[in-house]
Amino acid sequence: MPTARPPRLLFLLSGSIACYKACFAISRLAQAGIEIRTAATPAALKFVGPATLEGLTGQPVFSDIWTEGRAMDHIELARWADLALVCPATANTLNRLAAGLADDPVGALFLAWEHNKKPWWVAPAMNHAMLAHPITQASLAKLSGFGVRVIDPGQGQLACGEEGAGRLAEPEVIIRQVLAELGPKIA
Ligand SMILES: Cc1cc2nc3c(=O)[nH]c(=O)nc-3n(C[C@H](O)[C@H](O)[C@H](O)COP(=O)(O)O)c2cc1C
Repeated sequence: MPTARPPRLLFLLSGSIACYKACFAISRLAQAGIEIRTAATPAALKFVGPATLEGLTGQPVFSDIWTEGRAMDHIELARWADLALVCPATANTLNRLAAGLADDPVGALFLAWEHNKKPWWVAPAMNHAMLAHPITQASLAKLSGFGVRVIDPGQGQLACGEEGAGRLAEPEVIIRQVLAELGPKIA
């Protein structure tokens, strides 16, 4: 059943080299008719600039919970979206979300999200040792237990030059999964 409005995706970036792949996914999803708002940790903005995210979505990135005039973004964006996707999700951000820390945009939105009503997904990307670390594994298990869907990272050559598990899932896979979730809502 088509809805009166386009589906809404809250796309959250944390500080990984894979942020450039996230930009590709944002571009494709926007072209597919999904309305996208972005939020980014300060570290994510070391990898991609606010102008890139605004250019791809037509909307300014939410990157500072203290920005004047946008004081309620951490609540309003959580209300606004149909689906939230943290992509890439760093070890630090996964561990912070699992601990319920809310002093950056991604953490605040996570706590303001109604997890019983709308899906929240994470797409981890990190070095294989960071992924295998018991703290990261415990956080992933904890987040899964809260109903968060984990888009499994792939195996292969990592940005650090090592081989192993931890590569961000291929952008095409992520795009397909988001379209499967939200595509039916595109009018
Ligand atoms: C070049 C570079 C690449 C990085 N890539 C990753 C990564 O893919 N995954 C990760 O968990 N951390 C990565 N880091 C470390 C994070 O950026 C760092 O832990 C940061 O504090 C994460 O903050 P955030 O989770 O708030 O975005 C990288 C750091 C640098 C300098």
